[in-house]
Amino acid sequence: MNASPQTTPRTTIAVTGASGQLGRLILQDLRKAAPEAEIVGLLRDPGKALDLAAQGVVLRKADYEDPASLNAALRGVDRLALVSSNEIGKRFAQHANVIAAAKAAGVRLVVYTSLLHAPVSGLSLAPEHIQTEEALKASGLPHVILRNGWYTENYSDAIRQASQTGEFAGAADEGRIASASRADFALAAAQALLGAARPGETLELAGDRAWTLGDLAVEIARVRGGPVVYKNLPVPQYAALLKAFGLPEAVADMLAGWEGEIAKGALDDKGDALRRLTGRPSTSLAQTVEELLKV
Ligand SMILES: NC(=O)c1ccc[n+]([C@@H]2O[C@H](COP(=O)([O-])OP(=O)(O)OC[C@H]3O[C@@H](n4cnc5c(N)ncnc54)[C@H](OP(=O)(O)O)[C@@H]3O)[C@@H](O)[C@H]2O)c1
Repeated sequence: MNASPQTTPRTTIAVTGASGQLGRLILQDLRKAAPEAEIVGLLRDPGKALDLAAQGVVLRKADYEDPASLNAALRGVDRLALVSSNEIGKRFAQHANVIAAAKAAGVRLVVYTSLLHAPVSGLSLAPEHIQTEEALKASGLPHVILRNGWYTENYSDAIRQASQTGEFAGAADEGRIASASRADFALAAAQALLGAARPGETLELAGDRAWTLGDLAVEIARVRGGPVVYKNLPVPQYAALLKAFGLPEAVADMLAGWEGEIAKGALDDKGDALRRLTGRPSTSLAQTVEELLKV
């Protein structure tokens, strides 16, 4: 389903969260795949993405909390990737501001990065994504919903720590995680913007091969050349461990709670929508572990 870019020099494609890790990858993919189009990065502080400007991305100031800035930034935009905000708890209001501005600007396609299986997910992240999906539908804007699974990079800290100490802990038990790399999800969003997904589609995006935290231990052991033990803890004990490491109570409870949902299968998926959208296999767990532990 790899898109042949349906763009002209008059096409303007914008991406929110341009200073963030996913947003910047989407922008770089768009520059490569649609060099003739105007590619616009939306962000609070253009100073954070001067490297993108040097690559030909036009930067416009836009704060999710400031509707006037959004209205100005979206003027003339044909297609928009709304990369979900990282401000958990404030996100729905922020996304609603972006959707209202997109509607006012006459944007012709909005691609939103939601959460895998959002309507049935037990992850505490799900309600804000569902609200956003519903607001998009209610807006009448043509849109594509990309329900992204976990980034493998979410485990970067655990992988680095386990490579040094030979152990890491969690509470996801035998829960299977069909993760993919940020780069995979970014390419999927770029392709959706370029016509590889049909307006109205909702796609569950996940990696080709699901794995457990036990499998992750095996991969880290392989790369470090020594044993790695995964210690599975009950959710409350894992939360207590995270607090002992210095995480604020609410954050520790949230992260441990997610692990409990992963144990129940929240991040498992057997579909191939990600691979079809990107036109390539997803980045494997082994590749990401190798990349993270490269010296
Ligand atoms: N699938 C997963 O595993 C996973 C993991 C983590 C996050 N996520 C979700 O996916 C999104 C993208 O991931 P990521 O790794 O790129 O996250 P990230 O690096 O934390 O980027 C988040 C972006 O949101 C922007 N933002 C926050 N508040 C804003 C506001 N009021 N106005 C304008 N921009 C604002 C940030 O801008 P500033 O630079 O100005 O702060 C940043 O560019 C996250 O925001 C989160 O919703 C998914």
